[in-house]
Amino acid sequence: MSAKLLLLLCIGARVTIFVATEACFVMNGEDSWLYFNSTVKGGDVAHYKLKFASKKDNGLIFYAQGENRDFEALFLNRGKLTYFLFNPTDYGTGSTYGVYIECTKKISKNYEHDVEFYRNEEFKTDEGITYYKSGIKLDGVEFKKIGYSQGVDIEPQFFLGGTKENITTEVPKFKGIIKNFIEETTGQIFEKATFEQDIQACEKS
Ligand SMILES: *[C@@H]1O[C@H](CO)[C@@H](O)[C@H](O)[C@H]1NC(C)=O
Ligand SMILES: *[C@@H]1O[C@H](CO)[C@@H](O)[C@H](O)[C@H]1NC(C)=O
Repeated sequence: MSAKLLLLLCIGARVTIFVATEACFVMNGEDSWLYFNSTVKGGDVAHYKLKFASKKDNGLIFYAQGENRDFEALFLNRGKLTYFLFNPTDYGTGSTYGVYIECTKKISKNYEHDVEFYRNEEFKTDEGITYYKSGIKLDGVEFKKIGYSQGVDIEPQFFLGGTKENITTEVPKFKGIIKNFIEETTGQIFEKATFEQDIQACEKS
């Protein structure tokens, strides 16, 4: 089987890139985490994909931040997958933007879930009106918020499973497997981690 699949489709002026990777990481929930460095910066728009199987109801799956106190995370909280984008403005009081999206359905432990999470993605309604959305697609079911978070500044590193410091006590390090991580709008395939802490490779099936 080929480990990588890259297919470029041009539809009019829009370019959609389908990418895939078999990279798979086992995290022990205690001190397992990794990051990917990249020279490709994140802007207002991003569309990530990954798969995970968790042994616990709480855990940090993805984390990234930017220089202007922006940050973005995908995590499990009491069994619910949550996407958080924090995007404050320079002007302080009462003008913080971002999204907080929690899937209403709980995940199944030890089950491999298929996830997409994204910010500021353009879409058209049936009436042809253009909107933007941010959200999570969990096993094909979408949970979204309509709106646009302007001036998002998220940069690599992209962390999986945790970070060096614990972000909060409620969201501990992830225990389970995370695999097939990609960012579609920039066509980035994350295969070889830049840094790994206590990570095992998945067993080949
Ligand atoms: C990855 O990027 C971060 C932030 O720019 C940097 O501190 C770190 O040294 C880089 N790691 C490697 C292994 O290049
Ligand atoms: C992070 O939390 C874990 C337990 O969840 C703990 O063992 C570890 O020492 C903490 N690390 C830091 C840097 O506080």
